[in-house]
Amino acid sequence: MSSGATLETKIQFHSESEPLPGSLFNRVGHSSMSMAGKPGFNGLSTRDWTLLSASVFSSREVSSARNEFHKEHGATFPLALAERAISLYAGEDDTVLDPFLGTGTTIIAACKLNRKGIGFELYDRFAFIARNLLEEEKTQRNMRASIGQDRVLNTDDLKIVEGDCLELIKELEGNSIQLTFTSPPYADFIHKSVKDREKRAKSTMPSAIVTENKSSVSAYGESDRDFGNLDYESFLISVEELMAEIYRVTKPGGYNVWVVKDYRDTKNLKPYIDVHTGIANAGANVGFFYHDLIIWDQNAQRTLVLNGYPSVFYTNQNHSYLVVLRKPTIKQAKQLEKIFTKNQSEIYGSMKVADLRKILRNRKLAVSGKKSDLISRLVDQDCLEWWRNYDAPQ
Ligand SMILES: C[S@@+](CC[C@H](N)C(=O)[O-])C[C@H]1O[C@@H](n2cnc3c(N)ncnc32)[C@H](O)[C@@H]1O
Repeated sequence: MSSGATLETKIQFHSESEPLPGSLFNRVGHSSMSMAGKPGFNGLSTRDWTLLSASVFSSREVSSARNEFHKEHGATFPLALAERAISLYAGEDDTVLDPFLGTGTTIIAACKLNRKGIGFELYDRFAFIARNLLEEEKTQRNMRASIGQDRVLNTDDLKIVEGDCLELIKELEGNSIQLTFTSPPYADFIHKSVKDREKRAKSTMPSAIVTENKSSVSAYGESDRDFGNLDYESFLISVEELMAEIYRVTKPGGYNVWVVKDYRDTKNLKPYIDVHTGIANAGANVGFFYHDLIIWDQNAQRTLVLNGYPSVFYTNQNHSYLVVLRKPTIKQAKQLEKIFTKNQSEIYGSMKVADLRKILRNRKLAVSGKKSDLISRLVDQDCLEWWRNYDAPQ
């Protein structure tokens, strides 16, 4: 792609006659779309790519109708949001994972867009809904395929498994997933927000301001495997455990996108809980790059709640984040290995020979040789471990 082409697409984007990204997505997000320009990465042309690259997704662009099942679940994300993320970060026939599948939005979007999909859901009532909605989507696809309006899809490539994602993910092959797209329960935020709603319902707030958000969310269930039943600290520990597995199963250069919202726990003197940074750090701790941050503006869908009045001013958190993490490509992994080797060599270099021998003995490695031999033996082993964690061909 020449820089001239990029500039041209930018200029076109700003011209008033151009469609807005939302309406554009309706064309680029589907296999039957007509695309302007030459299709490139993930089937997106340079022009479509540019149009979709705004760092804020507006409600209008990524909202879609909620059905009765979504309302029953209470915390689903829109199909259009999943479609947009999948179009940006995975190509046709790539596999998309959602470890917190809920009513199946991610896997339905994957089905629509000719991607393969795997979803895990802890509770059978949500897995049941997800399966039924996916069956409906498959039927529609097959009908379209029968009249030549869509590709025939191998529907065995879309799997929903019931159970704890922390266990189920261990069954997945390393380097098999191009994109994880998910939204976790936000620790015990739901329990707190239900209590808050009950309290608000009883109190008499000034009537000029809407004091009740239209949230219908309620706790998912009682399971101690439910991330929604963990306090925030335990939640982050479990998230990091899951992130390590997601890292293992992600292909080199693949993506891992989490939709999250920050929240407040003012009763416990925590005015702002920065969930999106917690998620990004958990990913970075296991090796992902913090690749990007997208804001999903939800103002159009949410009423304003009276917060803190009249003693302290708080904003309404009417937006969520898409935390975009990426597993290094093999080329980047080799660069990172060089940096890691240099750092380890410096650390061991600053140690006494007796201490190096102690470490070697603990690791059941030979302790003979000059200091430089001892260091390279330790560094070699660290690097092996580093690649094992990366879990991809060197
Ligand atoms: C925020 S909701 C996801 C909603 C989904 N994006 C949708 O559109 O329907 C989080 C889901 O994670 C599930 N969940 C919680 N802990 C889990 C675990 N350990 N393993 C698998 N699913 C879990 C909950 O039951 C809930 O349905």
